[in-house]
Amino acid sequence: MVKIKTAQKRFWNKKKVFLTGHTSFKGSWLKLWLEFLGAQVTGYSLNFPSQPECLYKILYKEKILKQSVLNNKNLEKQLLNSQADIVFHMAAQSILSKASEDPIKNYLTNIIGTASILEACTKVKTVKTLIIVTTDKCYKENEKIKFYTERSPLGGSEPYSASKACAEIISNSYLLKFKKLKKKIVTVRAGNVIGGGDWKKNRIVPDVIRSIINKKKIKIRNPKYTRPWLHVLDCLNGYLIAAEYSFSKKDTFNTWNFAPPLINQITVINLAKLIFSKFGKKNSIIFKNGQKFYESKKLNLSSKKATKMLNWRTVLSKKNIINFTYDWYLGYIKKMDMKNFSIIQLKNFYKLAKK
Ligand SMILES: NC(=O)c1ccc[n+]([C@@H]2O[C@H](COP(=O)([O-])OP(=O)(O)OC[C@H]3O[C@@H](n4cnc5c(N)ncnc54)[C@H](O)[C@@H]3O)[C@@H](O)[C@H]2O)c1
Repeated sequence: MVKIKTAQKRFWNKKKVFLTGHTSFKGSWLKLWLEFLGAQVTGYSLNFPSQPECLYKILYKEKILKQSVLNNKNLEKQLLNSQADIVFHMAAQSILSKASEDPIKNYLTNIIGTASILEACTKVKTVKTLIIVTTDKCYKENEKIKFYTERSPLGGSEPYSASKACAEIISNSYLLKFKKLKKKIVTVRAGNVIGGGDWKKNRIVPDVIRSIINKKKIKIRNPKYTRPWLHVLDCLNGYLIAAEYSFSKKDTFNTWNFAPPLINQITVINLAKLIFSKFGKKNSIIFKNGQKFYESKKLNLSSKKATKMLNWRTVLSKKNIINFTYDWYLGYIKKMDMKNFSIIQLKNFYKLAKK
């Protein structure tokens, strides 16, 4: 039987973690997971990324200090105060359409923001590993190849992709400095992540959920585009075990792709239909509209390296991805205690991994 590796309590318990973008969709889940494993998390974010609903507010019901990664003095000060062993850099302008509307803000946040955290980590002694979150879109588009591997050339045909490719290049430029300081850099590239608690506009799952809650029609862009849909827990499990790996190995720099098996790679329209049908809205309200910004048609990542070296595999099947996502939003609609509910999903994830 193939063993699937999951994030270990014995590694994370009592670790100090600094997390930029802790109010993000992925960041909120990561904070919850790290705390579940006994880590002490210090968050650093500019804002709540979605309004009125936001996963962080739902889970933590607290205000945040608004702090920018572009304020490098403050970033360094907060990192020093946290005494972190491990840093996850998730803060970003993460929406492709917004990147095209305001490229400069996108480039500042995603490029200079990455340089700021790299620089801050060189100055804070306690930090041993920095994990930089980029994307599957950081590769130079090539329709002739079937899969992008970690060695595929970086590039970007629109501002979001280009900014994340730059974040990769800048991270790599710190290799020698980090080597000298005996610190590690890990960059992680994953595809479109779905799961309970995402509320960002222009993302398919939140758009479908809002259309169900508000009984409004949904506009779907590029319904036939294929995406490697990955559940947020499978994605974060990859980030966590990649961080664990870097602690035990000598390599200063490592890069990992995390993608689901091909069977999970379905079109945007089919994903929307699956969620509608779970809510009993089979023939609903889907129509197309024109595309105002450029987006790549097909994105297939190979995560062979992570499978071979980290023992990472997706725990959730396509059916489970839909069920976990549906269950979460249904729990929310029924006004359940969503922090508790999310922890139960985490425990179920571990149970399924063991099976
Ligand atoms: N969600 C996805 O499908 C997906 C796919 C690939 C990569 N990613 C990457 O994963 C990370 C998290 O994505 P998400 O969708 O959960 O993010 P999100 O859009 O939900 O949240 C963005 C986060 O960045 C913070 N932020 C923005 N500008 C900042 C600044 N100047 N200073 C400090 N904080 C700032 C926000 O406060 C928020 O916490 C991002 O780096 C994103 O590019 C996401």
